[in-house]
Amino acid sequence: MEEIFSRINGAITTAELEEIRIAVMGKKGILTARFAELKNCDETQKKALAKELNLLKVEFEKALANKKEELSLRELQEKLQAQKIDVSLFSASNFRGSNHPIMLMLDKIVEYFEGMNFMVKTGPLVEDDVHNFEALNLPKYHPARDMQDTFYFKDGKILRTHTSPVQIRTMEAQKPPIRMICPGNVFRCDYDLTHTPMFHQVEGLVVENGKDSVNFANLKFILEDFLKYIFGDVKVRFRSSYFPFTEPSAEVDMSCIFCKGEGCRVCSNTGWLEVLGCGCVSENVFKAVGYENVSGYAFGLGVERFAMLAYSVPDLRAFFESDLRILEQFK
Ligand code: PHE
Repeated sequence: MEEIFSRINGAITTAELEEIRIAVMGKKGILTARFAELKNCDETQKKALAKELNLLKVEFEKALANKKEELSLRELQEKLQAQKIDVSLFSASNFRGSNHPIMLMLDKIVEYFEGMNFMVKTGPLVEDDVHNFEALNLPKYHPARDMQDTFYFKDGKILRTHTSPVQIRTMEAQKPPIRMICPGNVFRCDYDLTHTPMFHQVEGLVVENGKDSVNFANLKFILEDFLKYIFGDVKVRFRSSYFPFTEPSAEVDMSCIFCKGEGCRVCSNTGWLEVLGCGCVSENVFKAVGYENVSGYAFGLGVERFAMLAYSVPDLRAFFESDLRILEQFK
């Protein structure tokens, strides 16, 4: 029995203690075997042996129970330690990013025109006077240049004021037919509640061979369909306007999506929102790129304005201040 007690002392798991209990008190246990001896003893021997065995049994059970309590406690602590989580630990899942609303809208616009078989073209941000102005029927000192306040570099280069120069570059590089949009950021020296010095545009251009292949009706169809794709069920109207690079030119209004044309603060009580500029491409533009006997239409829009309307963002500055509380709403 001495050996048994030292085994109990040395045990390191509760499972080991159970093995010892079976070895001592189980059916074939050593103490069980000694209790069985009792029936072969005479009365006096039996009494003495029974007393001895019972004491031994109590002592064994006590030692076993004490050790078991100690080990269970330790095992519980080890288990808790293993399952411990450090709640202050860095986790990447807390930092899932979201697309910027300007990029969400840009993607949606591009998605529509790609579906309509338009190529997506890009070009340089630093432009020369020819591509940004002259080839677009905006000669030097033409008053219409004032429509776009320009950032000039010392060497005469400029920051592009619209993405139209990408259309000129595309026409210079390839022959008609052309069906393209040019999304990108543009720069104008302008800063107030509704203007920022950098903003985003998507312009489109379609050119076909033949004087009468493409006309204003084609332009009207695609822009109406496009506005319905972005804003849902809106009414669309075309107002005659002026752009140097298109003739005839028009501005496109859609019925106010907030008051449904009733008149509200956003539409200045007119019921209409101005959202696009467009027109049939001017002969002078075709001449500048060496195109003959072609027809085409072009249009341009501001992505910030589309995003403000579609996502009900009342303040243009919200797009540029990188406030996470705003950006997180676009997850
Ligand atoms: N380029 C014009 C602008 O930046 C937009 C536009 C493009 C208008 C094509 C008509 C046709 O304001």
